[in-house]
Amino acid sequence: MLGQFITLEGTEGAGKSTNLTFIKEWLENKGVELIVTREPGGTEIGEAIREVLLNKDYTAMQAETELLLMFAARAQHLQEKILPAIKQGKWVVSDRFTDATYAYQGAARGMSFERIAEIENWVQQGFYPNTTFIFDLPIEIGMARVASRGGETDRFEQEKHDFFEKVRSAYLQRASMAPERYAVLDASQSLENVQQSIVNRLEEMMQSMEKTA
Ligand code: TMP
Repeated sequence: MLGQFITLEGTEGAGKSTNLTFIKEWLENKGVELIVTREPGGTEIGEAIREVLLNKDYTAMQAETELLLMFAARAQHLQEKILPAIKQGKWVVSDRFTDATYAYQGAARGMSFERIAEIENWVQQGFYPNTTFIFDLPIEIGMARVASRGGETDRFEQEKHDFFEKVRSAYLQRASMAPERYAVLDASQSLENVQQSIVNRLEEMMQSMEKTA
């Protein structure tokens, strides 16, 4: 049986990392074999592309370049890591995937959704996540969390409030167009509540797999 593909999305500081660990541990406790990965990145080549994409010195990067590099990293990630794992029946949990491209390169950078969809179809050949968790949080709160962590900001984190508002709205809009694939989580709630919603969704996924087994 094929594995399931779960992705986590959201604006900066919305709690993806904490909950990625939670999802991994919860699934492992249920005996699910899985790999955890991220985008852009996830492979040696993808991580090298990530360094280029996040390097804040590359202020000259064009939106087209950014878009193509995201998909270049994704093509490598899919062929080398995600698809082989799914075929072996493993679950794959990825910190971001193509919804981020629609939100960041599409809504925020202004690349057309039609163009993104064309490249998506070419690279993914109809392969999509089974479930996407969207960690939704007011931008001010997320930005304050990122600032309080300290450390260097990357090329995306240097963007302004408006940019992230566009990203946030795009995620919510995509979720509203296909509610069966997305679970929108109000990340301003307590961690306990957020994680309860995650568990509910994971349990549904496991039950529907048992039914088809
Ligand atoms: P991260 O901070 O969640 O690790 O993600 C790195 C950055 O890359 C984040 O600011 C969002 C951005 N990104 C895109 O702009 N488009 C994409 O397709 C992906 C996967 C990430």
